Parts: sequence; C-alpha cells; structure tokens
Amino acid sequence: MAAGTAEFVVIANRLPVDRVVDPDGTTSWRTSPGGLVTALEPVMRRKGGAWIGWHGAADEKLRPFTHDGLQLVPVPLSSQEVEEYYEGFSNATLWPLYHDVVAHPEFHREWYDSYVAVNERFAKRAARIARKGAVVWVQDYQLQLVPQMLRKLRPDLRIGFFLHIPFPPTELFQQLPWRREILEGLLGADLVGFQLPGAAQNFVRLVRQRVGHKTHRDAVYLPDGRTVIAKAYPISIDASGFEELARSEAVNARAAEIRESLGNPRKVLLGIDRLDYTKGLRQRLRAFGELVAEGSVTVDDAVFVQVATPSRERVDQYRILRDDIDRLVGRINGDVGRIGQQPITYLHTSYPREEMAALYRAADVMVVTPLRDGMNLVAKEYIACRYEGDGALVLSEFAGAAAELKQSYRVNPYDINGLKQALLDAMNAPRRENGRRMKAMRKYVVEHDIDRWAGRFLEDLTAPREPHDKVFRPPQET
Ligand code: F6P
Repeated sequence: MAAGTAEFVVIANRLPVDRVVDPDGTTSWRTSPGGLVTALEPVMRRKGGAWIGWHGAADEKLRPFTHDGLQLVPVPLSSQEVEEYYEGFSNATLWPLYHDVVAHPEFHREWYDSYVAVNERFAKRAARIARKGAVVWVQDYQLQLVPQMLRKLRPDLRIGFFLHIPFPPTELFQQLPWRREILEGLLGADLVGFQLPGAAQNFVRLVRQRVGHKTHRDAVYLPDGRTVIAKAYPISIDASGFEELARSEAVNARAAEIRESLGNPRKVLLGIDRLDYTKGLRQRLRAFGELVAEGSVTVDDAVFVQVATPSRERVDQYRILRDDIDRLVGRINGDVGRIGQQPITYLHTSYPREEMAALYRAADVMVVTPLRDGMNLVAKEYIACRYEGDGALVLSEFAGAAAELKQSYRVNPYDINGLKQALLDAMNAPRRENGRRMKAMRKYVVEHDIDRWAGRFLEDLTAPREPHDKVFRPPQET
C-alpha cells in the first residue's frame, strides 16, 4: 500500500486473519479468534480502507497484501514482544485488571516497555499510510497508547478509539503503575468509545482525578483547546448476515445432523466461548453437572454442548483453566454419564461461521455466563440465528449485552443455585413464553446491528468541532 493513500484506517492488535503453518509445512490464513474481528470485518467490507494489525505469527515480516477483498497491513512482532507485549502486558496485566481482577494481574516494567515499543510501531505504520485528514480508528486495550503517539506524528488526522472490553472501576484502575500514561494515551483520540455508559463515566472521572483536566459530562477539555468525547457505543453483529446463513438449507441440515448425533435429546444447551477464565465456564458446567447428578435433568432430557476456542495458550492462567475444565468435564461425564450418553460434549476447537450457525440452530438454550465481559457477541449471534422466534438465552448480568437483552434469563454466574434455576426455567418454559422473549430480543438485535454501531461512532468522530475555548467555557466541577 502506497504511503499517504488510505482514507480510512483501522488499527487492531490482530488482522482479521492469522497466518498458520499447516502440518505439511504449507501456510494458510485462518479467521482470527474473538468478537472484535466478527464485528469489524463486515464494517471494513462495506467501507473499504486499510486494516493494520499483527498476523499472528512471531518473527516474520510480511508486506501489505489484499485478502478476500480486504487491504491488510501486517505489523511484525518478535517472539520476545509476543511474550512481553501480547501475552504479558496485554493479557496478563490489562486483561485481568479490566475484568474485575477475576485473575491476579501481574505488573512488570519490562512488559510495559515492550507495550510502549509495539504501540509506537503501530502508530508509525498508521502515520505512514494515512492520507491527509484521514480517519483512523484504533481498537482495544492492546493499543491504548496509539492515539497520543499518532496525534504527535500526524495532528491532521481524526482519531477514534474503541475499547471492546470493560473499563474498570476507578479503584481497580488505580492499581496500574502506568495509569496516567494510559489515560493520556487515550486522550490522543478525538472520540473514546466504550461498551457501556458506566465505563465512559469511569474514564472521565479518572481523567479528572488523575490527569487534572476539566470535564463536563462526556467531554474532557484539554489545555491545548481540544475536546475529547468519551461515550458508550454498545457493539453489535452483522445480524442480517448471520440470519441469512442460518436460513440456508445446508446450515439447517447440519443442525439436524448435530441433534441426531447427540441422540435427539429433548433439549440441547450450548456454550460457545474463547477458553478464557472470564467466561464463567467452571460455574456453568458445575451447575449443569449438579442438575444431572440430582436428577432434575436426565441425560435423555438434555445435553450440554460446550465449544471452547483455544486462546492465549501460553499464558499461565489459561493453561490452568484448560486443565481445570478438562478435569471438570471428565469428572461430570464419568460420574453421571451412561454408555453412549455423555451429559457434556466438550469441543476444544474453533469452528467456521457456518458450523457456529448450525450449532445456534441446533440449540434450545444458549448459555452465556461470563464473570465479566465487555459485550459478548455470541449472545447476539444466537438471537440473530433464531429466525423462527424460538430458543432461550441464559445471560450473565455481568456481560455488557445484559444491558440490552433484557428478555434473557438473567443470572449472577457466581450464584450456582441461581444458575441452576435459570437453566431449568429456560429449558422448561412454555413455548409461548420463550417465543415472547426471543421476539423482543430479535427486534432489538436486528435494529441495533453492526452498521448502526459503526455509523454512530464514525458520525460522531467526524462531526465538525471547534476548539473549546472558542465555543464553550466548561463549568468547574468539584
Ligand atoms: O474482544 C477482546 C479481544 O481481546 C480482542 O481484542 C481480540 O481480537 C479477541 O478478544 C481475541 O483475543 P486474542 O487476539 O488475544 O486471541
């Protein structure tokens, strides 16, 4: 891609595809894991522009290329940077800190140094390819210093930032030794987007307390005359794309095949998650195991299918989790299973969209029980695929999606008895009751899709702005 030509640029830690080496030594491209890619890929398809990101392999420099109609600009990472910037600071410091410290965050100065160096590399790459006055949209917690770095290099750009994960309460954020640097990094953007209004408020409060800038509601007034807006933009999915897939004959045939191979139980329950300790997998499997052990549910009655996509496998907490889940599933199936009838079907793998849609079509109850989650797009994908208006969603009140999907069966995932009751309620509710709930949620998801999300964010980002000292003197806040 020629320097200074891109009018619209997305920067994310990962490209939408990872470069993988197959067992026979050939290389191929595989869709990257996670909700960020699911959400942004359709946006980039419709808008065009360049996507800057890491291609998932260490110590490998690649030239910009076009893949499946998308313009991709790879950023290289050395193996040490993968360890320190990606596995370390991003996923063993920020990830647990931003998710309610459900695991212990580790603070290491050399990890932070690597985070700075890699953020600088992303910023420089964007500065080189962006056209004069271009819009650059920086994504997620791995790149929080990029807005400020990029602004220094290219003050002509419109810079947006969106955080896909929760932004922590001020008490937790203050633990971070580099809290001020992160806040100032984000303030390089013109617009900082969050999943929920509470997260935006946490950010503004921290900026006022820790950086000392004046603020008023969702606005931060910088001494140089810039105004930074911090607001909520709950992310969504390509609802019509998922529905179209779900309506296809091939997907419905595959859904029937899945039910058949599970022994045609009365109810199929489904969980699909990255194998992550924030997702509440232990709690969910324990709750279902207890229901079977007590006889509230029999193995003819219900089968639980849990897909756990491999993720961050070299980070200690993820290794521990994988072993724990293997043991838990083995114990439950060993204790309450029968020959040819296992209560839990556990799949440690990732699937293409078609197979995911078939699983959503096959499932009577979708179980989404994170301990903390920025949004959770799996919940929205399930709803988009239930075009007949049936099926039920059990949803943690600690997922961002709970603020929108009000007709779900809401649970506190730490409350195992409450979780068991919600599973029973969802399984046994009259068809009409689940139909009423599903129709309301479908209406919401169809109306609030990914195009609307991107449209709202980009419209606010590109709206004309005057320097604040010319238009408004912000009131003093205490
Ligand atoms: O949504 C959170 C997120 O960390 C994204 O930034 C990322 O693309 C996805 O989850 C998957 O994580 P990873 O790239 O570490 O596998």
